[in-house]
Order: sequence, then C-alpha cells, then structure tokens
Amino acid sequence: MEKLLEKFKELFGDGGEIHSYFAPGRVNLIGEHTDYNGGHVFPCALTMGNYAVARKRDDNKVRWYNMNYPDDGVQEHVIEGLAPNDHGIWYDYQLGVLWALQQKGYAVNTGYDMVMCGDMPTGSGLSASASIELVAAVIARDLLNLDISMADCAKIGQYSENNYNGMNCGIMDQFASAMGKEGHAIFLDTATIEYEYVPLNMDQKKIVITNSMVKHQLAGSAYNDRRRESEEALKALQKVVDIKSLGDLDEETFEKHKDAITDDICRKRARHAVYENQRTIAAVKALKSGDLAAFGRLMNESHVSLRDDYEVSCKELDILAEEAWKLPYVIGSRMTGGGFGGCTVSIVEEDSVEEFQKIIGEVYKEKTGLSAEFYIADAAEGARRLN
Ligand code: GLA
Repeated sequence: MEKLLEKFKELFGDGGEIHSYFAPGRVNLIGEHTDYNGGHVFPCALTMGNYAVARKRDDNKVRWYNMNYPDDGVQEHVIEGLAPNDHGIWYDYQLGVLWALQQKGYAVNTGYDMVMCGDMPTGSGLSASASIELVAAVIARDLLNLDISMADCAKIGQYSENNYNGMNCGIMDQFASAMGKEGHAIFLDTATIEYEYVPLNMDQKKIVITNSMVKHQLAGSAYNDRRRESEEALKALQKVVDIKSLGDLDEETFEKHKDAITDDICRKRARHAVYENQRTIAAVKALKSGDLAAFGRLMNESHVSLRDDYEVSCKELDILAEEAWKLPYVIGSRMTGGGFGGCTVSIVEEDSVEEFQKIIGEVYKEKTGLSAEFYIADAAEGARRLN
C-alpha cells in the first residue's frame, strides 16, 4: 500500500481525497463449468487480489497506472463513447466495467486517477480478471456515490466481461470476488443468485492451491465452445423434458432423457454439467455434516468429469491431481477454474502440507520439467474500500 501511494503521488501529485481499495481473486472448491448451466458453485474469495489507490477527477478522463505492467505507462482514456474490444489487457477490464455501468444507466461520467497492483498470478484460473473488474466496480461505486449493491457489482463485472471483453463467462468469479466472507465459501445457485455462506470448518486441514504454471491461453475460445455445446444439449433436452437449464436435472432424469441429445460431444458436456451440479449440492451437504472424506471424494470425481466429459483439463493438471490422489494425507484434489492450464485445489492434512509441496513439486518437475507454485488459501473478505 505504501508503494502504491508513493507511486500515486509521484505520478498524479499529492492532495485531495485519496482512498484505497482491494478486490480478491477466488478459488472454486467444487462446481466447475456449472455457472452458465444454471447450476451451483462453491467458491471462496482469497487473500490475494488487486489493490488500488484512487482519487476522483472533475472531468471525464481516467489516468491509470498498473505497477505490474510498468511498460504500459499511464493509461489515459476518456470514458465517453467507450467501445468493446477483446484485447484482454488490464485496463480493458476496468474500462469495461465503467462502460457496463453506463449501459445499465448509472451516472458514470466523472473519471479518476488510479494506481493499482496485484499480488496474484494471472492466467492461472484464480480470477485475476474478475478481481480487476471488481476493483473498478468498488472504486466507481465509492468515488461516484453509486447506489449499487455488491451483488449487482458482480453482475456488472460479468456483463462487462461478456459484452465488452468478449469472454462469455458465468457469474461465479465476480460473485466470489464481490461477496467473499472470511472463513466461508459461498454456496451459490446461479439459476436464482440465491446464496449461502458455509463455514469452512476444515479441522487440521488446509486448502492448498497448486499452480501448474501453464497459462490458459486458448481458454477463451474453448470456453465459449463449451458454452455453445452445453446450450445445444439443453435445446435437445428441452424437446423432451420441461427444463430451463441443465441445472434443473438430477442424474436419473438426465439418464432417462439423454438420448434426445444426438451429438456425442454435446451429450458428454451435458452429463458433466448435470452430475457436477448434483456433486456440488452433495459436497456442501457433506461439508456441513462434517464429512470431509465425502467432500474430498466428490472433488476427485469432479476432476475426472472435467477431464473426461467436459475435456477442459490438460496433461499438467491431470498429473497434479492424479499424483495428489496417491498421497494418504490428501482428502481431495481437482483442477479449479476454467481449465486448460492454471491451478488445482487440494485439501491436505495440515501436518503434511510441507511434504505435499515437496513430493508434488518433485514429481511434477520430473514429469513436465516445470516448477509448480503453491499457495495456502484462506477464505477471505470480498471487494471493499480499505480506507
Ligand atoms: C471461468 C469463468 C467462470 C466459470 C469457470 C468454470 O472461471 O469465468 O464463470 O464458468 O470458468 O467453472
């Protein structure tokens, strides 16, 4: 924070009301690729994310600087007449949020100066982009006195990512970043946006994130493909059963009607969406009743389904998960986030976390030549003004 403030004063001068903000990344414990299929997700916000200091201006300009990307220099933009693009650069995610707020009728015509900095890996399935969007949303909400709830900030983030940045994501990442709660994961029904905070009572266990260090570069197009395939499957099923989304189906009803989906690939995608949603509901039930072993088994099944039916895993993520399954002190392990690279999430006995990192790090290096990174995840608070 000190460095951010120093840089801010250096670039934009001292004085006026300077406030600081933070928005976290997230890790999803279970419920993957269900959030655009009307299913449930179970993410928690992380302590890692993006920090910013900002001061309101009195014209329609923004001047922004990101300490993670010094080569981009100070980005100066007029916030009128913004036009969507799919460049996916940090400031595009922020401009997208201002654009989305304008589209939804919020009075966003005054800009601000800002310096930001993230302490989390990007392109790793931990929602660095949602965190950047939510930083923009909380700054605008605060500096421009917008009457908008945090849940609506999440929807604005998703709307901007879909319509400004061309990535057809669901609501999970933005919702987790906006609504995170310390010590809790969020059990969110994406069909209704009803949610419940569930305490992560992980007695003597830790949530360990392992970064494969493979960036999910092609993810955007493959992600949009998966969405299309799921929609096609839904349309086929709707001819024989009255449902609004794949999340409306339980396993039995799906098995009964699945042959209505004639395309083999689309049928596999739908099977994942249906089973993963039911697994998520079962996993949260297990966690609430203290049955972590069952929670872990469901995490493992989730990985298998993402690997085989949804086909969004990759060799590196499979190695990380499958090697973790061999260790007696690992309760469960799976890929997390969009896939095609990025991270796995594992629940590990606290006493063995160090050994876990050593063993997984070594096997992974041996099999891929890559050095994995590990982070201990503590469920944290959502996006907010700091002072
Ligand atoms: C990405 C998207 C989310 C969600 C996950 C997969 O993170 O942004 O909306 O679909 O992939 O669960």
